[in-house]
Amino acid sequence: MKFELAERVKSLPPYLFARIDEMKAEALKRGKDLIDISIGDPDIPTPVHIVEAMKKAVEKPEHHRYPSYEGMLAYREAVAGWYKRRFGVELDPQTEVLSLIGSKEGIGHISLAFVNPGDLVLCPSPGYPVYSIGTLFADGEPYYMPLTEESNFLPDLKAIPESVLQRAKMMFLNYPNNPTAQVATEEFFREVIEVAHKYNIIVCHDAAYSEIYYEGRKPISFMQIEGAKEVGVEFHSLSKTYNMTGWRIGFVVGNREVIKGLGKIKTNLDSGVFQAIQEASVVALNTEESILDEIRSTYQQRRDILYEGLKSIGLEVFKPEATFYFWVKVPKGYTSEEFTIHLLEKAGVLGTPGNGFGTPGEGYIRFALTAPVERIEEAVQRIRESL
Ligand code: MLT
Repeated sequence: MKFELAERVKSLPPYLFARIDEMKAEALKRGKDLIDISIGDPDIPTPVHIVEAMKKAVEKPEHHRYPSYEGMLAYREAVAGWYKRRFGVELDPQTEVLSLIGSKEGIGHISLAFVNPGDLVLCPSPGYPVYSIGTLFADGEPYYMPLTEESNFLPDLKAIPESVLQRAKMMFLNYPNNPTAQVATEEFFREVIEVAHKYNIIVCHDAAYSEIYYEGRKPISFMQIEGAKEVGVEFHSLSKTYNMTGWRIGFVVGNREVIKGLGKIKTNLDSGVFQAIQEASVVALNTEESILDEIRSTYQQRRDILYEGLKSIGLEVFKPEATFYFWVKVPKGYTSEEFTIHLLEKAGVLGTPGNGFGTPGEGYIRFALTAPVERIEEAVQRIRESL
């Protein structure tokens, strides 16, 4: 029998990180000692107090049944409490917070709630692939907003044609940014809100990296800006903040109509997050800052070593103020893909090719600070020797 894939799946390129995983598996099979600084998957374990809370929670029979669709109230209250403490933003846990099976799940599904065939969705490029893939799954059309060095890796909203803004239904944004590591300014967010109001565009801000910052310079939340709740929502994940990528838990906050729409899709597609994970996540969201400061200082040490190392090799690189990513120009004579393969073959270092995040990412490679200091030092040494 021959099973034909649906057109929407046939036209998709292989998912970037699945392809990276394949490259990694192949290199390991060949016996390479690989330094993997490609995917943003923290190598530091989940803090012990969260794991202990999970052990207790998993033993409770009431958690073994279906969870509620929107998330336990205790979890949504913990999210609201965290927003109040961290950003000074008030949220109604009943209507303005929704649990997600990781922020990727919500980002991937939101287009199904609001996008009709042919609607445009504004997506940053380079950007997290799920913004445009979710759009395509809803038969919408991504309109790519280039993030370039010249525009400080912020989209130039004034450059978007009027006809596009009129057809646009949603806009995805992500600051601190993956892959460029740029942070947003209040002024930029104010401009976004103005455009969103004028053209009736739903803003979906992905803030997964808001807690990975350096020198105490805390990134802002879109929700802190006046009028944000009227135009959109903010996605968050516990993955990067608490080293919980494997746990699959996140949340979305903000505009209650947008949250209701996404909730309607989710009630039809999934059955919520395992309650034991939610209970442990309540503990996570109340983690003492000193524990997070320790994680941040580990990343800061790695960042400083990678920055100095890459600079000493002569690579063009800027020092991230937030996120654990480095957006590095590939040396002359290489494409993103060629340089990634060169590093894999000649240095045993795995990065992510910039063009995998979209065409404007061509000419860059992304490194993630997800390996110990010794391995980062060794990666720098091996890159130096390979060039
Ligand atoms: C990345 O490397 O960009 C992230 O790990 C992707 C993700 O969070 O799904």
